[in-house]
Amino acid sequence: MEPNTQKLIHSFGALADLGQEVADTGDFMEMVRTSLHLLLGTLAIRRGAIIECPTHLLPEDKSTNLLAVWGVGEDYQPKFDVEDADSGVFLNAPDGAIVLVQSPESDVEREVSTGSGGDRVEDSTLKTSDTSPLFFVRYSAELQQQGIELIIPMVVRGELTGLALLGGKASADSFTDDDLEVIKSMVRHIGVGIHTHRLLGEVKQQALENRRLYEDLRAIYRDTVRAFAAAIDIKDKYTKGHSDRVGKYSEIIARELGFGEEEIEGMLIAGYLHDVGKLVVERDIINAPYRIDAKQSSELNRHPAAGFEILSPIHHPYADIPLMAKYHHERMDGRGYPDGLTDKQIPLGAKIVTLADSFDAMTTDRPYKARRTFDEVIHDLRRNTGPQFDPIVVVAFCRALMKELNGETKDRRFHKILGKNYLDATKDIPLLTQLLAELDPNVKTAAAGG
Ligand SMILES: [Fe+2]
Repeated sequence: MEPNTQKLIHSFGALADLGQEVADTGDFMEMVRTSLHLLLGTLAIRRGAIIECPTHLLPEDKSTNLLAVWGVGEDYQPKFDVEDADSGVFLNAPDGAIVLVQSPESDVEREVSTGSGGDRVEDSTLKTSDTSPLFFVRYSAELQQQGIELIIPMVVRGELTGLALLGGKASADSFTDDDLEVIKSMVRHIGVGIHTHRLLGEVKQQALENRRLYEDLRAIYRDTVRAFAAAIDIKDKYTKGHSDRVGKYSEIIARELGFGEEEIEGMLIAGYLHDVGKLVVERDIINAPYRIDAKQSSELNRHPAAGFEILSPIHHPYADIPLMAKYHHERMDGRGYPDGLTDKQIPLGAKIVTLADSFDAMTTDRPYKARRTFDEVIHDLRRNTGPQFDPIVVVAFCRALMKELNGETKDRRFHKILGKNYLDATKDIPLLTQLLAELDPNVKTAAAGG
C-alpha cells in the first residue's frame, strides 16, 4: 500500500477513535456523517450511505437505520429488512468482504466478494434459495437505480453492526486494490464507532434503569420509615408529629452544616426513627399527664437502647441510623444516657438529633407544660450549649433559623412547623444574633453581612 494511503487511514482511524468516545447521539451522527464524507472525498466516490443494522437486543425489529447519506437521489432514504439469513451471509463473508451489487436478473452465483488481496472469489454462501431470497436479490434493483455498486458489511465482535453502501468513482475508473483496502479500513473504523456507540447507549440505558430502581427503592424506604414514625407518635398522644418534626429539624441542621445530600437524607431518617424504642415502653408511662417518678423515668429511659436493638438488624441505606437513635439522649458533659458518653464520643448525627428533639420538646405543648416562648428557648439554648448541646450544632441551627427570618430561604420550613404566629423576625433576629455572637465570635460579621 502507498505510504500516503497508509497515512490517510491512520489519521482516519484517529478520527473514528475520537468518535468512540461520543455517547451523545447528535455528536455521534455528526461523526458518522463526517466519516462518510471523508471516505467519499478521499476516493472521489460520487455517493454513499451508512446504515445501521438491527441490534440483537431487539430481535423482532429487522429494519435498518439510516445514519448518513450523500449524493443519492433526492428523497432516497435507504431502509432495508435484514433477515437472519442475510446477516448470516454478511457475517460469513471473508474478512472485510466487499459485496458487489449485481443486476437481479443476473445469475446469483455471479455475486462475488473480494478477498483481502482484492482477488474476486466465488462465495457459495451468497447463493440464494426460493424460500429465502437474499438481501441483494431483494434490493439489487433499488440499489442499482441509486447508483450503488458496493456493499461493505461492518462486522464488529461477530455482530453485523451496519452496512456501507458506495457508488462508483467520479472518474468512472474501477476501484484498485489499494482503493478497496482504504475503503475496508475506513468502513471498519466507522463500524467500531457504531458498535461502541451502541454499547455506550446500552450502558447508559442500564444505568438509567438502575438509577430509577434505586430511586424507587429509596422512596419506598422513606415512605415506610415515615409511616413507621407516625406509628411511633400515635403511641404518644401528647406529641403527635414529634418524630416527623425532629426529622425535619435534623435535616435542616445537617444541610446548614454542609452535609452531602445522602447524609442529609440519612439525618431526616434518623430523626424520624430516633424514638422507635418507645414502642417497647408502656403506653401509660409515655402518656402520663404528670411528671413521672424515678421508676417510670428509668423505664422510659430504656427507649434509646431499645431503639438501637430494633434498628440494628435492619440494613439502612444510610450509615449510623441505629447509633443516632441510641445516643440521642447523651450529653456533652457525660450526664446523659444510656452510656454517659462525652463530647467526642458522641456521633455528630446523634448530637443533631438531640438538639432537634429538645427544640421540638420546648416548642410544643406537653401535658404538664405549655410550649416555651422563643426568648425562653434562646435562654435554654444559651444555658445548655456546652453541657448538653454541641455548640457547632446549635450555631448551625441558629444560622438556618436566622436565614429564614431574614427572608433568605424560599422554603419557610420553621414557620410551617412552628405555626405562623410563633416566630417574630423583629424580636427574634436580635436574640439569635446575640446568641450566635456568644457561641461563635466569627458569627457576628457573617450574620450581619447576611
Ligand atoms: Fe427520645
